[in-house]
Amino acid sequence: MAGSLGEGHAQAGEGFVRGSGKGRFQGEPDPEAARFSRSVHFDKRLAKHDLEGSRAHATMLVQAGVLTRREAVAIRRGLDRLEREISSGKFRWKDSLEDVHMNLEAALTARVPAGAKLHTGRSRNDQVATDLRLWMREQVGGDILSIAALQKALVKLAEKNREVILPGYTHLQRAQPVLLAHHLLAYVEMLERDKGRLEDAVKRADVMPLGSGALAGSTLKLNREVTRKLLRFGKVSTNSMDAVADRDFLVEYLAAVALAGVHLSRLAEDLILFSSTEFGFVRFGERFTTGSSLMPQKKNPDMAELVRGKSGRLTGHLMALLTVLKGLPLTYNRDLQEDKECVFDAADTVRACWGVMAGAVTSLEVDVGACAYAASAPELLATDVADGLVEAGWAFRQAHQVVGAAVRRAEERGTRIDRLTREDWEGLAKGSGVVVEKVLGGSSALARVRKAMVARSGVVGAPSFVGVVRELRAWAKKLR
Ligand code: ARG
Repeated sequence: MAGSLGEGHAQAGEGFVRGSGKGRFQGEPDPEAARFSRSVHFDKRLAKHDLEGSRAHATMLVQAGVLTRREAVAIRRGLDRLEREISSGKFRWKDSLEDVHMNLEAALTARVPAGAKLHTGRSRNDQVATDLRLWMREQVGGDILSIAALQKALVKLAEKNREVILPGYTHLQRAQPVLLAHHLLAYVEMLERDKGRLEDAVKRADVMPLGSGALAGSTLKLNREVTRKLLRFGKVSTNSMDAVADRDFLVEYLAAVALAGVHLSRLAEDLILFSSTEFGFVRFGERFTTGSSLMPQKKNPDMAELVRGKSGRLTGHLMALLTVLKGLPLTYNRDLQEDKECVFDAADTVRACWGVMAGAVTSLEVDVGACAYAASAPELLATDVADGLVEAGWAFRQAHQVVGAAVRRAEERGTRIDRLTREDWEGLAKGSGVVVEKVLGGSSALARVRKAMVARSGVVGAPSFVGVVRELRAWAKKLR
């Protein structure tokens, strides 16, 4: 009978390993080669998307006159059943069937004979490219939520400590006073850009490869608009060769994730430093620290350290995929199978990092006294003194010199600049004494630095009390 495939194919057994049934091949592949090339243990993660693609493809094949309506219904039901089996853990994955695509097709065909027609006009090459794009779209949706959860944790901590002043650092040397909330919101900004990059990657990935076949489309009349709409892609690909060879979208995902990892590592590092006895600004909740097997007194910030360390892995995955793609001739090459493990591991790793960081940040306790003490160091206001001199008519370069000389004099005397007398200042620059008093004088060191934070209110983006309140409000609204 025309179109009959014979029994052997309907069983779709081990012979499938060679991609197109036994046809071209006589025997089984070398066991080591089979083990080496199989991917089902990791690409089964694409099952849901593979099934989604297959359902759409089946619907389209009715229009193309390849499947009857009845066959398409049977196929779709069969695919639904596979999905249920997979999610309930009942599906039996067969290593001998190499990858997710072969496993699902074989299982379908074993139950629904028309399944043998499903691969018409389709190749695993356009199939896997489609699956990965669907996967990425869903993954990024969840990523955005994870990032938002971390942002919320940071905003909450900032909100709770919105009056806390601490030294800001450049070169890891005390520079100028800032608000802890401002410091934390710096990370909220970074995380927002991370979201934007992921969203951008998804936008560019919104192109459907399905219908590109192995590399050259099909001689059958495939209406790709039908599958595009069903799979909710913005466009269909316009070059079949590019469509099956392209993994740019995964590179973009990995790049966004690598940078997200770098941001996480910086946050981790700040918190590790700040939680050390040397800084003493914050304490991690016990549940996010570990002890030492040897030193009884230790409480180590291991979660933050691991987050910092895992950023290395994320960067590595980006490099791995770029290297896989470099110099690869068109179109599909099996090298491309190497995309999945790095992408999946990166996705899981960064997701775990966002999650554990959100928990660790929520667990933080701020030592307000330690922050206030550190923030009250008078050198932090050296720039404010220079600014004061500028307001009184000095050129900034001169003002800078005067204050620099004062710092040096204080150092020579083993004291601090706020202990220099008005005469000391007058000796350095006539008329400077009064100006300096305005900045460095005042009731207490803390009152002085608080005044300095108020003085920053006029500049957008500066760490003033009003500025931070405004930012906190804006973020709370945005993240709601
Ligand atoms: N497992 C393969 C991959 O991930 C699927 C595509 C295989 N295509 C092929 N022509 N061998 O790349």
